[in-house]
Order: sequence, then structure tokens, then C-alpha cells
Amino acid sequence: MKVYIASEKEIAKMAAQRYVQLINTKPNAIIGGATGSTPIPLYKELAKQCKAGNVSFKNVKSFNLDEYVGLDGTHNQSYRYFMNNQLFKHIDIDINNTFVPSGIDTKNPSKYDDMIKAAGGVDLQLLGIGVDGHIGFNEPGTKFDSLTHVVKLEQNTREVNSRFFKSIDEVPTHAVTMGIKTVMNARSIILIATGKSKAKIVKEFIEGPVTTKCPASILQLHPFVEIYLDEEAASLLKK
Ligand code: F6R
Repeated sequence: MKVYIASEKEIAKMAAQRYVQLINTKPNAIIGGATGSTPIPLYKELAKQCKAGNVSFKNVKSFNLDEYVGLDGTHNQSYRYFMNNQLFKHIDIDINNTFVPSGIDTKNPSKYDDMIKAAGGVDLQLLGIGVDGHIGFNEPGTKFDSLTHVVKLEQNTREVNSRFFKSIDEVPTHAVTMGIKTVMNARSIILIATGKSKAKIVKEFIEGPVTTKCPASILQLHPFVEIYLDEEAASLLKK
């Protein structure tokens, strides 16, 4: 696990360079996307790099981590809507090559893993982290061998995410998420964490034991993980 610490702006640029390198080496790369506040500076930087002609997503495929159950892609809080507006419409990706798990058809969620496999597997998976250590929507206690599945969201996660909704009652109670095994199947992974609220969990998942109590701790066992932190998120790390 490599850990990089810099300003939020700098880490967005550094992480964007990983995409530029990957896609320029492998133009039909498969990338894994995340939503939330954390990836927004990175997505802005990717749009900038694409506009400048430094990278083209024309042949890239994208698979997102998760989606709220019950929201279709036109809902302004759905993760499909987020991805279209924060990234896809600002780069030259073919929208037909972008995938987000369905929040409506949730009968056989692990078929998403089959789709990823059929596409060739994820080359670079982006992750944020929840204050309880969740990655995707894999809450504490999720089995490390889980594939894409439906989860009941922790009350705390719903509270944190209610900032995007009118009230907590509107936050869906369930989500469909890539499983921990799905995430670990990616050939390389970038996790970004910024802000003071992430400092405690950042210390725990990097320096603590590998345990299902902290889902992100499994990343210690992946051979190609890069962690990008701002000073605040890194503030409790030993070194
Ligand atoms: C989003 C996702 C979540 C977020 C996490 C952090 O697709 O899978 O695991 O990465 O909840 O969210 P932010 O970035 O809003 O702090």
C-alpha cells in the first residue's frame, strides 16, 4: 500500500495522472467509479485533462461501485445522475460504455460481477471511504468474499448522506453495491480521503488490523493500492 499526502488539489492532480498513464498505455482500460464529495476534484481534473487532449476515454469502459435502491437514473440523487453530471458529460466517454448497478432491477445483483468479468475486469478502481470504514456501501460486518449485493444502509451512513437530500426520510434505506471481493478483484485501486472527519478511520484502516469491522482494512492485502490523503485526513497516522 503506497500512501501519498498532499493538498486536496494536488492529490486530485496526482490521481488524475494515474488515469492518464493507464489510459494512454491501455486505451480500452476498464475504470471503476465512485460517487460522493471526495472524487469531485479528481473528476474535474480528468475533464480538464481530456479537454486538453492529454487523454481520451473514447474506448474506456466504466463500472460504478454502487446505487441507491429505488432510485432510477433520472433521479437527481441517483449515482447514475451524479456520474453523468460530474464526469461523463465532461469527457469523451461513450455513455453506452458506462455502467452503474441498477437500483430498480435488484433481483440478481451479482450479474454485475459477470458483466465486469466479461468486459475484462477492472484495471483501476476508485474508492472513497465512509467514516465507519465502508467502501462502496460495504458496511462493517460485510463478508470479505462478497460480490455485488443489496445492503441495508447503516443509520449513520444515511445521516451523513442526508446532506444531499431534503431530509433524512428521503434517503433510501438500501443500496446495491459491488462486494468487497468485487473491489479486491480490480487490478489496481486508488482510495482518496480528505478532511478531518476521515482522520480516525484512515488511521484505523491503514495501521489497524485487517477485520470485517473496518471493511477498508482489507485493502492492506491488495498488491496495488495507492492511498491519496490530504493533511487533515492523514493527521493521525504514525508516520
Ligand atoms: C460512493 C461510495 C461511498 C463513498 C463514501 C465516502 O460511491 O461508494 O463508499 O465513497 O461514503 O463519501 P464522501 O466522499 O461523500 O465522503
